[in-house]
Amino acid sequence: MTDSNPFRLGVLGSGEGSNFGAIADACQNGILPASVAVVLSDVEEAALLHRARDAGVACAFIAPGKFRTKLDEEAEASYIKALNDAEVDLVVLAGFMRILKGEFLRAFEGRVVNVHPSLLPAFPGLEAWKQALDHGVKVTGATVHFVDQGVDNGAIIAQETVRVLDDDIPEILHERIHGAEHRIYPEAIGAIVRGEITLRGRRTIKSVS
Ligand code: GAR
Repeated sequence: MTDSNPFRLGVLGSGEGSNFGAIADACQNGILPASVAVVLSDVEEAALLHRARDAGVACAFIAPGKFRTKLDEEAEASYIKALNDAEVDLVVLAGFMRILKGEFLRAFEGRVVNVHPSLLPAFPGLEAWKQALDHGVKVTGATVHFVDQGVDNGAIIAQETVRVLDDDIPEILHERIHGAEHRIYPEAIGAIVRGEITLRGRRTIKSVS
């Protein structure tokens, strides 16, 4: 990946890395006017890190510390340092399965985005596609939002609906939601990079460029 693009993304993830793949592809083919400066993971063997290495993107495992659902103080400082060292403009959470709060959000205020596999505010938290199936909704989807102190709570930037089919099983539904994520996440990041997104209270307004 070339580093010629001035807008720098820092991607954090814990798993497969398919959203990283979609974002990196969009950067590569010029749809997204940015470059991925660094990829960080709290899971040492995450497929995400292999994908990043294959794509020639700087990447690192940073141990999350003693807690199960969040970073401890030392780990939080290490993540902030790695992102600052890479001169990241926007922090992109792509399947990062730890809650970021306090110091981290202050360090990157208004500059952290996340993708979630449901139409928020429905089904925040873990395995949102399973929650949707268990609840029996007929439509679910994907959401891109700014990250604030709440869990899956920040201002919504983009959403795409996905129909729930009668014979759906969790894996297949999640696969179709992934498809929606791969469309809306690079597009939403592109809108932020181009300065098209304005925040009005909880609402984001997109200007047409
Ligand atoms: C994505 O479906 C993302 O929405 C979800 O993890 C998956 C990561 O996939 N994130 C959450 O559930 C966060 N609450 P990926 O590693 O292939 O990009």
